[in-house]
Amino acid sequence: MSLPPGFLDELRTRLSLGQVVGRKVMWDQRKSNQGKGDLWASCPFHQEKSASFHVDDRKGFYYCFGCHAKGDAISFVRETENVDFMEAVKILAAEAGMPIPERDPQAQQKADHRTQLIDVMEQAVQWHRLQLQTGGAAEARDYLARRGLSPEAQTRWEIGFAPTNGGVLSHLTGKGVAQKLVVDAGLAAESDRGGAPYDRFRGRIMFPIRDARGRAIGFGGRAMDPNHPAKYYNSPETALFDKGRSLFNHGPAREAAGKGKPLIVAEGYMDVIALAEAGFTATVAPLGTAITEDQLRLLWRVADEPIIALDGDTAGLRAAMRVIDIALPLLEAGKSLRFALMPEGLDPDDLIKAQGAGAMQKLLDAAIPMVQLLWRRETEGKVFDSPERRAALDKALREKIKLIADPSIRNHYGEAIKDLRWALFKGAKPAARRGAEAHRRWTPGKQDPWKREIAPVAGSKMSALGAGAMDEDHMREAVILATLITVPALASEFETAIEQMECHDPTYRDIHASLLRHFGTMALHDAIRGDLGEMPLEKLFGQSHVAISPALRRPGETEIARLCLAEEFAKLTARRGHAREIEDAVEDLSGVADEGLTWRLAQASAALDRAGRGDNEDRAEYELGDNGARMKKDELSAFDQLLSQIDFAKGARRPKS
Ligand code: UTP
Ligand code: MN
Repeated sequence: MSLPPGFLDELRTRLSLGQVVGRKVMWDQRKSNQGKGDLWASCPFHQEKSASFHVDDRKGFYYCFGCHAKGDAISFVRETENVDFMEAVKILAAEAGMPIPERDPQAQQKADHRTQLIDVMEQAVQWHRLQLQTGGAAEARDYLARRGLSPEAQTRWEIGFAPTNGGVLSHLTGKGVAQKLVVDAGLAAESDRGGAPYDRFRGRIMFPIRDARGRAIGFGGRAMDPNHPAKYYNSPETALFDKGRSLFNHGPAREAAGKGKPLIVAEGYMDVIALAEAGFTATVAPLGTAITEDQLRLLWRVADEPIIALDGDTAGLRAAMRVIDIALPLLEAGKSLRFALMPEGLDPDDLIKAQGAGAMQKLLDAAIPMVQLLWRRETEGKVFDSPERRAALDKALREKIKLIADPSIRNHYGEAIKDLRWALFKGAKPAARRGAEAHRRWTPGKQDPWKREIAPVAGSKMSALGAGAMDEDHMREAVILATLITVPALASEFETAIEQMECHDPTYRDIHASLLRHFGTMALHDAIRGDLGEMPLEKLFGQSHVAISPALRRPGETEIARLCLAEEFAKLTARRGHAREIEDAVEDLSGVADEGLTWRLAQASAALDRAGRGDNEDRAEYELGDNGARMKKDELSAFDQLLSQIDFAKGARRPKS
């Protein structure tokens, strides 16, 4: 039985702890201050004559100064009525007039369906691999050999072949797999006119795509004929395959990055393979779509400063620019991107073939920070010989910088751009001008074009976010990690939330990273200790709020741990969105007096509420299609096939083989 996220929160707000407790105790009228919600009684949990039991009705917490019993309404009912957690929730929910939602049978069905699809996909991977060894695949083996992929590398990447007349559908159904599952896995497609399903992939080299945990979720299929209109044909979006939230080679790259390899983002499957085979093992690629916001977040989970190594052609450069636009609003302290610019007309695969791994390493070492690429985009090939043109440049750059949500980073970008601008217009190197004089010149106040937009809002940000809020986040992070380590079986249920979790405390961040590395292990505690030693775990479990968290107090009660995790995750996400809104609103205020402030705060609360309900439809509605165009998600799979045929036939991408 699991409750919807936010349910417990709502329950606690609706209830008065004073009322709940008041049924069991007599308030000490002299000591209590009813108006302030400050209530005292003799403790119901131990024998005493004095009134050491305190209820803070506003916060909904009790604490006994005598026996140190503490908790909220739910724990109070559990202890005094001697019922389990769910019973207590039911009692209180009835009192608060909140119906408890029925167990969600669909959720279980969905989970079962996914498990079946994973199994089907795994069988498909193995079948395609076998096909590569058959007589009909001679041409495919030649092709791979020509591209320099040794049989060992083919095995490592589990490369397979889809025969010219297909066969995976009949193979799988022959093994007793339901036809519908093969279709749902994206391996077969139903024809429009209701005819029999047919194999999607034919006559293609098959690259299995696995998720971060190594489960097969999709395929990229490459045509061998250089003139084929659709060079790559990818699995459609399925219940398993969410292109915008997956990365090719995610799992192995994460592991390699954990061992210190730089995280590289390439454009194509073959680039990833070439890079990894050349020793750059922490390489990933998006899956035929432009890099998405979600993918950037995934990258930053793995490394602080991934290097984007896109192809050295206009398409590659355009893709890099798009990455900048997506990345700017997401930048946070310590998280950034670098760009390795490939020589004209080459992709990483070509470069390594032509000039070896050393040449690639040089390019990676020379990767430029994002701000420089941004600058290049706005200035390259342009002449700024008039005030109007310079003003236009200022405006364009200011627009970009405004996209950065983090005020401190926005400020630093402003500074960096100022330096670049100084160098461009005055013909001097910024470093040489960094004296007191240069600074006086560039920080004169009102007439400085950057000043108004990028000046930090002194003090106000801290009060908006509040140190208390940060502490609370840290506490939630700790409780989540400790609960997961104590009940590792729950990790898979909360996989996405765990992946996306961002820890602010450095120790928790290490534990989190180690936890991700050992996903699926039941001996999590040992595995993490193996990575980090005893200290971090001692720190984590030594926190008093961790020790009293539900899962630790009631070891073995998975249901409680599950509820606790669901609740903590929901609150953590909701609060972060909330904090950002407030921060923005306060900034607006410090500029022009903003009448919309109250409205925006109301919007933020509504968002908080939505997040509490785990409603992320907004996010799922749009995504980038293979050609980078925006379209509704449900139109996407229908367009998938069309796109790869029309778009690539027109040579929208460079006609390379
Ligand atoms: P590239 O053309 O750069 O791919 O497209 P590549 O990996 O270097 O391919 P080779 O070396 O020619 O074999 C980059 C990525 O764009 C997607 C694929 O994911 C590919 O890896 N793509 C490309 C498609 O989805 N469909 C296409 O027709 C072409
Ligand atoms: Mn290539």
